[in-house]
Amino acid sequence: RTTLRWVWRLTYVSVLGAFVYIGYEIYQDRNPEPQVPRDPSKKTLVILGTGWGSVSLLKKLDTENYNVVVISPRNYFLFTPLLPSCTTGLIEHRSIMEPIRSICRSKKGPVTFYEAEASSVDVNHKIVKIRDNSDIRGVTTETEVPYDMLVVGVGAENATFGIPGVRENSCFLKEIGDAQQIRKKIMDCVETAAFKDQPEAEIDRLLHMVVVGGGPTGVEFAGELRDFFEDDIRKLIPDIADRFRVTLIEALPNVLPSFSKQLIEYTESTFKEEEITIHTKTMVKKVTDKTVEAEASKPDGTKERIVFPYGLLVWATGNTLRPLVRDMMASIPAQKDSRRGLAVNEYLVVQGARDIWAVGDCAVAGYAPTAQVASQEGTFLARLFNNMAKTAELEDRIQTLSSSLNLKPGVDSASVSREIEDTERKLQRIKDIKPFHYSHQGSLAYIGSEKAVADVSWFNGNVASGGTMTYYFWRSAYLSMVFSTRNRLLVLNDWFKSKLFGRDISRE
Ligand code: FAD
Ligand code: NAI
Repeated sequence: RTTLRWVWRLTYVSVLGAFVYIGYEIYQDRNPEPQVPRDPSKKTLVILGTGWGSVSLLKKLDTENYNVVVISPRNYFLFTPLLPSCTTGLIEHRSIMEPIRSICRSKKGPVTFYEAEASSVDVNHKIVKIRDNSDIRGVTTETEVPYDMLVVGVGAENATFGIPGVRENSCFLKEIGDAQQIRKKIMDCVETAAFKDQPEAEIDRLLHMVVVGGGPTGVEFAGELRDFFEDDIRKLIPDIADRFRVTLIEALPNVLPSFSKQLIEYTESTFKEEEITIHTKTMVKKVTDKTVEAEASKPDGTKERIVFPYGLLVWATGNTLRPLVRDMMASIPAQKDSRRGLAVNEYLVVQGARDIWAVGDCAVAGYAPTAQVASQEGTFLARLFNNMAKTAELEDRIQTLSSSLNLKPGVDSASVSREIEDTERKLQRIKDIKPFHYSHQGSLAYIGSEKAVADVSWFNGNVASGGTMTYYFWRSAYLSMVFSTRNRLLVLNDWFKSKLFGRDISRE
């Protein structure tokens, strides 16, 4: 009984503590401290993008040290790992968006934000040209922003490899708008298939959802789609439920090439149970408004042409360069051999450019284009810039002390000399910043039916696991990583709501 009483007390105190903590976080978000005034004598640090790389930098940057200007066509940060869940309404899209204005306001030093796209960078004159591409435009739609230091974190675009018909007919899955479009289209296909007197072949086409690309994006989306049909559509529209099919097409011999062999096999067998058809060694060659044409390599080495009629096509074949990055690479001679993005050195400095750094998917630092890499790069740059500011401050201090030693009579030269020595030691420590080193924490992917796969780094080794327990790990890991307390509560609420009432299938 005494033990039980203690367990009860401990639980009570922990829950109370959690509530107090959440309450304090919310209070702080709603009542940010006054910011220090802008200081025009400080250097201007321009950050392009509001994605993983740029926002991680902003989060850890001492903004009092610079005049920070953030430029992005997107006035929010998007937590991409949960984006596939938005395509079916399991999570509402606003739950994984964090307004950049609140991130900027939470900083001690002021941060200016312009909702605009950087259209070009003049690396010689240190100027970024920006353009307002939003629906509502003022008199000024294009202007220039000069910089002393520039960080490029504009991410990447969807690769289509120039395959005809892809851009016109498929949905991508990179931005919030993409997820919303997919959600609408799924329900449009369902309602159109349920339309009176719809021919059988047309019902089959409309309810055939094709995903091209067996990387993590394609796999996670296929899993979410299957859950949606099993959990909700099957119950609400049983007449058509058995006609629903998901096909995943992958050019390589297996899906999830970056995961370990046993997890690839586990994913493929789980997909079999979920009746998701996988076509590996199958390369899509052409897309029309109703069909996907692909070429499959058969075991005997011959090729077979397959035509897949579809209702919804989601294209998830990875990344390509954004035009801004391509133009920058063309204007910097040292970048001429780089193909996949801005080549950077071990301090993330863009090679061949002065005072330009790059982070995330647009930078080539020898790592995979993931959120994990981008956020570690952003955090590294914040440390670098904080150190640079401190270095300048300490160098100024040493100069002032040295001149007082030489010029001012009557100063206690012994104590000043000691202070100079101390400051020099501090300076040395700060200057000794190590190059960027990526620490891989592991890879996680949801594969449907409340199962996930995880390759997690553990004491210099790797632990591979798949199944329902991994799914709970996946959920708790991402819940702990979402940007803010607000996001965390909203995502929790969405999961709870969908479990209780099912997903909202109304088409906006
Ligand atoms: P982004 O996060 O893409 O941000 C780019 C920013 O630049 C955006 O704000 C954009 O609006 C802005 N921008 C674009 N053009 C311009 C311009 N001309 N001027 C100024 N700004 C511009 N990675 C993981 O590690 N784990 C996961 O679970 C995971 N899940 C994913 C799920 C999905 C569906 C997707 C699509 C990706 C996922 N990733 C995951 C990959 C991860 O999202 C990317 O690697 C990461 O977003 C890269 O960060 P970034 O800062 O380089 O670019
Ligand atoms: P990806 O590059 O990882 O995979 C794309 C796949 O499409 C490749 O396997 C490729 O072989 C295939 N492909 C290309 N052209 C094709 C064609 N014509 N026909 C058929 N298949 C074709 O791209 P993805 O999944 O969008 O991921 C991009 C990045 O984001 C990766 O670095 C990935 O690790 C990361 N990511 C991580 C996630 C996670 O950790 N859970 C989730 C989503 C993305």
